[in-house]
Amino acid sequence: MIQNRASNKDKSRPVILAPSILAADFARLGEQARQALEAGGDWLHIDIMDGHFVPNISMGPIVVEALRPLADEIGALLDVHLMIAEPARYLEAFQVAGADRLTVHVEATPDMPGIITTIKKLGVRAGVTLKPSTPFETVIPFLSAVDLVLVMSVEPGFGGQGYIPASTQRIATLRQLLDESGAEAWLEVDGGVHLGNAAEIAGAGADALVAGSSIFRGDGSITENVVAYRAILAGV
Ligand code: DX5
Ligand code: ZN
Repeated sequence: MIQNRASNKDKSRPVILAPSILAADFARLGEQARQALEAGGDWLHIDIMDGHFVPNISMGPIVVEALRPLADEIGALLDVHLMIAEPARYLEAFQVAGADRLTVHVEATPDMPGIITTIKKLGVRAGVTLKPSTPFETVIPFLSAVDLVLVMSVEPGFGGQGYIPASTQRIATLRQLLDESGAEAWLEVDGGVHLGNAAEIAGAGADALVAGSSIFRGDGSITENVVAYRAILAGV
């Protein structure tokens, strides 16, 4: 049963908006990332894809490095979503590049505890994520060890996909698991988020919404789209 946000989540945490730069115009990436943050975006969501774990290739540490000065200037977090095989190989490279959080797919590693330990030793926040069809049982052991749990509401690999409606119940279920366990992890939702479903997603208990095409390729300007999100999320 989907409860409204009031009963799913304490209001002490404002809902975070994380623009996903995968949808940005890469010929104007810095300019557009600045617009999204200055209009009210909180974290820059950076999707790393290797063409193996997902059937798409996007970007690497060099993009994190390029955006680090902007994040420092504005006080934004670089929220790096690793959709790569053998993620352990690149954790240090992304830490050196300036990632604030590294979120790893539970499907990409047999050693999530080791990955989490390594990320923390690097001084970076650790996140765990799972594909829409992956059972929560796979991440329950890590809920108290990570800073964030990312619920994929599309199959990872591409921006601009449609939100999977069953995701809302998954969000509510994870919200309950987090609250019952007393885990402090943020609950982030990623994929197909837009102005029409943002309130529903936040109401189900999400702490953070990733939004790519609805911000960088939406109806309004980047600024207008972010401001529209902020207005909706302020009311949740
Ligand atoms: C998909 C990525 C998402 C995607 C979100 O694999 O993890 O972050 O960029 O883009 P939209 O908001 O367009 O679905
Ligand atoms: Zn993502």
